[in-house]
Parts: sequence; structure tokens; C-alpha cells
Amino acid sequence: MPFYKTRDTLGDAKWFVNDRFGMFIHFGLYSLAARHEWLMTNECMTAQEYQRYFECFSPDMFEPAEWARKARKAGMRYAVMTAKHHDGFCLFDSQYTEYKVTNTPYGRDIIREYAEAFRAEGIRVGLYYSLIDWNHPDFTIDVHHPRRNDPQEVIEAYNQTCDMHRYTEYMQKQVKELLTNYGKIDIMWFDFSYDNERHMIPEKPYLRGKGKDDWEAEQLLKTVRDLQPDILIDNRTGVEADIWTPEQHQPTEWATHPVTGEKLVWEACQTFSGSWGYHRDEQTWKSPEMLIGMLIHTVSLGGNLIMNVGPTGRGYFDERAERALETYEKWMKYNSRSIYGCTQAEEDWESPRGCCLTQSQDGKRLYIHLLEYPFAYLELRGMAGKVKYAQFLHDYSEVQMIEGDVPYMNTSISYGEKLLLLKLPPVKPNVIVPVIELILK
Ligand code: GLC
Repeated sequence: MPFYKTRDTLGDAKWFVNDRFGMFIHFGLYSLAARHEWLMTNECMTAQEYQRYFECFSPDMFEPAEWARKARKAGMRYAVMTAKHHDGFCLFDSQYTEYKVTNTPYGRDIIREYAEAFRAEGIRVGLYYSLIDWNHPDFTIDVHHPRRNDPQEVIEAYNQTCDMHRYTEYMQKQVKELLTNYGKIDIMWFDFSYDNERHMIPEKPYLRGKGKDDWEAEQLLKTVRDLQPDILIDNRTGVEADIWTPEQHQPTEWATHPVTGEKLVWEACQTFSGSWGYHRDEQTWKSPEMLIGMLIHTVSLGGNLIMNVGPTGRGYFDERAERALETYEKWMKYNSRSIYGCTQAEEDWESPRGCCLTQSQDGKRLYIHLLEYPFAYLELRGMAGKVKYAQFLHDYSEVQMIEGDVPYMNTSISYGEKLLLLKLPPVKPNVIVPVIELILK
């Protein structure tokens, strides 16, 4: 049976691989600009230019209890929210910076309200914390920095004045605040390291990337685990941790550890439309079929899916995000049993064409997701004699089984004894992706 493993020294992933589905929330000053959370660097804005968002930040419709209710109804069981993003702005009341939400016109500690509201709704609470900080005076100008196009001499002179060690101390102190003042935190999501070639600009070799040594990541992780031993940490500090986090692409197989070969605990992080922060003009919103399909595919490879919502500058989920969440809500209401507590199916089960399989972690039930709806029969090879009962998950209606050598009308094709045929209604049930539950013998 496929399984996950919690390594001794690392956080406890049992709940995580059971719950499978979470909500990412990217909210910050960039929500006002409404054109990607990287706009400060995409547009090479100066700190003064970016300051206008700080001065206008006032999400008058921020109601975290609403967010939490919507997340729960969509079937999401944990959430991760940006406590600080790359622009350095803190959504919590940190005593180590003035660049924080409590100094904006809004004035309230958003992270505190988020944590309380989500917990009250029974949703586990995670925090995203950017390792990158385009506001901090000790953070050197590098490949992703908004000032990367300054003349080389200016950059070098500026970087001389920076002290990255002092910056790492700042991070440690803030992480301590987050893990001390906000109750139990289930996930700490650091973002990100970029010290490899992909992040180089060939004509500007003086612009470096940054990685685990720049963050003093080992020490940072130790601080986190000392404060909250069960917490799960992602792998983006550059130090091996609990969760492997592919982004904006869907893996095609269950990733394994390069050295030990063991299956990794992993989480695909994805967006509804491409950008993480609220993006007014983006037209690349995923279809309902795609949203549901991505969740199913992820679990069928033993992973979790964390789907992002970027609330508007007023603090509500816009109607496109609401529609996407409602898509999950409608489907999860009836079909979540093929997601929670499920994982990749055992190798013996061969997926029929156009289908995707998951299996309960106790091995007793197999779920066939009908991504393409077949005509009349679903052929399951090698499965005769192994299934006790078959039903649709959305209404518990029986799916009749025919076993053995099946004489189709007017054909002489013989499929052999091992064939199990499921007899399907001619018209696809009114469910985006119908699920057949097989109760195994
Ligand atoms: C990225 C981006 C970012 C986003 C994150 C979420 O690497 O820098 O804006 O927060 O991924 O996974």
C-alpha cells in the first residue's frame, strides 16, 4: 500500500496527507495595484513610488470569518496566508519594523484576525513568510530586486552598506513573534531560494541569487521547530524539510527523495488565474473541469493541493474567485471521500482510459474519477473477483457489475476472465467529474 512517512526529526505530516486540500491566501499592498504581487520589481518601482499603496491600504470589507467559511465550504481544511511577501510589508503587528499593517490607515493586525477566524471554523492555520525583502535596508540588491537595473557601481556601493546577517536576525525575530503570539501554527511556508543558474542574468554577473546560506536557513528552521515542534515546513529555504512544493506545474509522478528514494510529502501550489495577488485584468482563469481535475490528479499521485485566492484591495474575494470556490464546494460536497484520506492507488489497479484513480489509505476503497465519460460500459482489466460493490459517490446509486468473459452484442471480442465491466447510465450524471466508489473485497 502506498504510504507517507514522517521522518523522526521532522514535523508531523499525518493530518496533512489526510486533509489534502488547502487555501493559499496572498494579500498585501500589491492587492491594491491589482496587477501581480511582483509589480514592485516587475516595474522596477522605487520604495517611494510603492509607498502609495501603504498609505492607501484600507480593506474595509475584510471579513476573515467569511473567508474561512468559504474555504471550509470548498472543502479546504487548512490555509496558508502571507504574513510578509517579497515587498517586505508585514500583515502582522511586528515590533521590529514600521512597515506593517498596523501603521497603515487600516490599523488592525490582519494575521491575528485571520488566524482566529480560520481556527474558529476548524481550519488549520499556516503562515507564508517571504525570505526575500525588498524593503529591508540590510537586504542586498540581487537578481530579483527592484533596483537590479541601477548602475553596477551604485549597486555595489549600496550592497556594501547592507548586512545580510543582521537581516537574518530580523527574520528570526519576526518568525519568533509569529510562532509565539498567534497560537498554534500548523505550517510555516518560507519563500524562496534562487541561488541556481536559472536565476542568473548573464550580462550582469555581479547580481547574485540567494539561498540557504544567505538566510542562515538551518538556524531559522531550528528556531521554528524549537517553538512549535509539530509544525510542517516547506522546502524553499533550500534546506530539506517536510513538504516539497511544486508550483504552477502539475507533476506526472510521485516525487521521490533523490538520495533515499523514499516518497516525499508534497503539495502542489496553484492559482485560479496565474497571479497570486489579486489581478484585475488577468483573463486566464481555469475552467471548472480543470480545477476539479487538478485536485484529483494531485491526490492520485499522493500529493496535496493548495489553491490560491488573491482577495481584492477591499478585502473580499471577487466573483471569479467565488465561482471557482463554488466549483469546489459543489463537487466536494458529494465527492470528498475520494480526496480526504486518499492517495495514489496500488500498482495492481490499472486506470481505464480517461479515468484517474485514488485509493483510501487503508486500502479498502478504490475511486474511479470519470474525467471522460465513457459510453455504456467501463472496462476494468484484471479486476474481476476483487470488488464487492460499486456505487456512484454523489448519490450512492449502485453501479452494476458484470464479471468474466463478456459477450458484447454482435462482436466476437473476448476479454478474458479477469474483466470487470461496470454498467454506466447512458447520460453522464450531472456532476463535473463523477466518481465511482469500489468497495474492495
Ligand atoms: C513564488 C512567487 C510568489 C508566490 C509563491 C507561491 O515563488 O515568488 O509570488 O508567493 O511563489 O508559491
